[in-house]
Amino acid sequence: MEIIIGSTAEELAAIAAAAIVRQVDRNPKIVLGLATGSTPRPLYAELARAAAAGTDFRQVQGFALDEYVGIAKDHPESYASVIQREVVLPLSMVRERVHVPDGRAFDLAFAGPQYDADIQAAGGIDIQILGIGRNGHIGFNEPGSSLSSRTRVKTLTNDTRVANARFFASVDEVPTHCLTQGLGTIMDARRVFLFAFGEAKAEAIANALEGPLSASCPGSVLQLHPHATIFVDEQAAAGLTHAEYYRYAYAHKPDWQEL
Ligand code: PGA
Repeated sequence: MEIIIGSTAEELAAIAAAAIVRQVDRNPKIVLGLATGSTPRPLYAELARAAAAGTDFRQVQGFALDEYVGIAKDHPESYASVIQREVVLPLSMVRERVHVPDGRAFDLAFAGPQYDADIQAAGGIDIQILGIGRNGHIGFNEPGSSLSSRTRVKTLTNDTRVANARFFASVDEVPTHCLTQGLGTIMDARRVFLFAFGEAKAEAIANALEGPLSASCPGSVLQLHPHATIFVDEQAAAGLTHAEYYRYAYAHKPDWQEL
């Protein structure tokens, strides 16, 4: 893992966006895994600036990480709506090339494997963008998720529903279930960019990066990923034992080793 500690979310987002733009310039048909929530917003803002400056995202494909079960697609807080509003429109992507799990599928048991098959048919995810929950979840893979799980229905923890209540009128309106890419699905991505900002994420980041590999902290599975880059601000990095080494290693990154 490469761990980049920065002073602001904006500074880190600019570094990550530059790397993504480089890849899009090289391969206009790149496949991005798209996270929702507050964390990736600075990154999407940077990518939107790049789009305005001429980077062409029209051939890029996108796969959202997750969706609530039972929520109407046009509900403003469905991830289908959020991705449309926060990613597709600002980056001028083509809506038909951006996929979100179908939380209203008639056969939810089938919707997960179908989504994995769709990802595979697109050639697999080149760069998966991720946040992390306070409880260590990535996607909606809550503690106890199999480290090799595939896209499937999961029950949200109370902690996650309370954390996401800010997007709804009350916690009771937050759906109880979701369809989420599995940890195995996420691990299939060629590259992973995980972002965490703020002290509320410090414990999850310490557990994920330096704790034991464990289903109790689903983010810890990234320790097994051959090409994961972790972008954390000082507050989210506060619990890291080896922070000085990570800073040193990034400061001495060989010139030929691009992000
Ligand atoms: P957040 O959510 O970016 O809104 O903090 C992250 C997550 O729960 O995975």
